[in-house]
Amino acid sequence: MISKETVDEVLLRTDVESLIGGYVSLKRAGSNLKGLCPFHSEKTPSFTVYPADNSFYCFGCGVGGNTITFIRQIEHLDYPDAVEFLAKRAGITVIRDGENEYVRTGSISKERLLKMNVDAAKFFHAMLFGTHPKAKAALEYFTVTRGLSIATIKHFGLGYAPDSYDSMMKYMLSKGYTRDELVEGFFAVKTEKGTYFDNFRNRVMFPIIDVSGNVIAFGGRVMDDSKPKYRNTMDTPVFKKSRNLFALNFARTTGAESLILCEGYMDVIALHAAGFTNAVATLGTAITAEQARLMSRYTKKVIICYDADEAGQKAAQRALKMLGEVGLDVSVIRVPGAKDPDEYIRAYGKDGFARVITESKSKFEYNMDTILSKYNIEVPQERINALTELVNLISDVYSRAEQDVYIQAVAKKLNVEPQSLRADVDKLARKKAGAFRKNESEKTRREAAGYADRVNPDYARAPAIAGKEENVLGLLLLYPEHRKKVFAEGLVSESDFFTDFNRRVFEYVRVLYNDNEADSTDVNSYFTPEEVGRITKMKIRRMNLTDNSETVLLESIELLKDAVKKRETESVSTLDDLANLILKLQNNE
Ligand code: UTP
Ligand code: MN
Repeated sequence: MISKETVDEVLLRTDVESLIGGYVSLKRAGSNLKGLCPFHSEKTPSFTVYPADNSFYCFGCGVGGNTITFIRQIEHLDYPDAVEFLAKRAGITVIRDGENEYVRTGSISKERLLKMNVDAAKFFHAMLFGTHPKAKAALEYFTVTRGLSIATIKHFGLGYAPDSYDSMMKYMLSKGYTRDELVEGFFAVKTEKGTYFDNFRNRVMFPIIDVSGNVIAFGGRVMDDSKPKYRNTMDTPVFKKSRNLFALNFARTTGAESLILCEGYMDVIALHAAGFTNAVATLGTAITAEQARLMSRYTKKVIICYDADEAGQKAAQRALKMLGEVGLDVSVIRVPGAKDPDEYIRAYGKDGFARVITESKSKFEYNMDTILSKYNIEVPQERINALTELVNLISDVYSRAEQDVYIQAVAKKLNVEPQSLRADVDKLARKKAGAFRKNESEKTRREAAGYADRVNPDYARAPAIAGKEENVLGLLLLYPEHRKKVFAEGLVSESDFFTDFNRRVFEYVRVLYNDNEADSTDVNSYFTPEEVGRITKMKIRRMNLTDNSETVLLESIELLKDAVKKRETESVSTLDDLANLILKLQNNE
């Protein structure tokens, strides 16, 4: 039996993009990557890698899953061997001691790595207040150039990495760490010749602290315009940049009703110093689904406050989408006349920023403003173009009542009749729904013609119900945050499932929800690779469909229950029985 700890560690330390990139040549396509499928022959790429979900799926042959599934398939290994293969690749040693199993990543334990980070933070912090002329310059960078008080510097534990190739290392060696351990902690770099030098040199240092209060990583900024502007700790066994947020350790305890999401460390620090202690920032990457979920654990409302430039506004669009997808109430603020929140606070103060917050825009208002700013609505043709885009925007909104609110707003802004807008929105929504259905049934038909459904042989007996089962399962797999409601309130249960395979998948989701600490909950330990492919497809197909995942999930459950009830009450006719019999014969059962 492979322990949960080992499998979790393997999954955490294996990056899907670089793993699959070693076998398949991948090209970026939006937030995903595409390539030619290594499991069937094709000329146009339908093999897709989803870094945000750490998974892959081929739309051509239906193979899919996580990194373990990939190795199972491509190296023809069984499940335990695939885990071992990836463990070796990630430098994880699995030590078996009778019944027990321990994981060691490289040569260093998580505990020691955490201790190393604390010692490093103390060193950098002490250096900032040192007497060396360069240390003075670093302190002045914070106090004078960036306007921070000593109290703020101490509160965030800011520091300075000396302009030296070995002073950090010398200090850490005196604390008992080895050079190789320092390399694992990302504090030292090992050259090909086998010599070592300090990783952070002549930079001001920002420690990153997790919600349990552990120092887990550092960002180091230059004090001038040289490049790279920041050097950051790469992912280590105690740090994954896509799963943490700067200053969440402070923000989560403030009791504020919202979190403010910024782009930069300095923005967050300036906001906290001005009393907005609910500000957090991502760690040098675009916001990830994991970070969105993390935020949803502490708040219901997020205010996005990104840089004013085009890149910042693009990133804000993405953040709106990501945060909406996990059910957060999201709004956006712009900082007029400044490049970022930090600069804005310094120019307009606490009151200025408080005013900006009161003017925060909902996702719709923000998108409407973006559209309106592109057109001169006094010019008839431009006005029509703006209307077309706005109708399109409204037609994607799920709730009709919400649509009404936006229709009123647009009608007023552009001085048109709400009724005619309503008609246009409905027309477009119908057209989109039609296209979606056609596309779906086309896919189903093509699949049914292509191969007999070996994974879910019951599917063809009740495609309408099975499809609804997959809706529920796909959403439950994609959105862990909704599982609690579904299971605690017993909204759907095993007996609501008609097809055996989908019932098994539902049982698996229940295992995920209960999260048994001892055994691995990895999908590969419950299903064959072929089955994992199908489960992945259920997720992938339902990705990014909606902002309102909870509502859609609850409605999908209702639809499933209705379909099951209908089937039960309709006495099954002899003709149906005959059809089923024929189908069974065809499947050689
Ligand atoms: P910014 O360039 O806006 O940095 O990048 P900043 O911290 O606001 O710096 P100032 O205002 O110029 O002092 C936003 C964030 O992106 C990450 C850092 O987390 C930074 O805080 N970043 C930026 C990097 O990781 N590396 C870089 O080279 C640049
Ligand atoms: Mn900035």
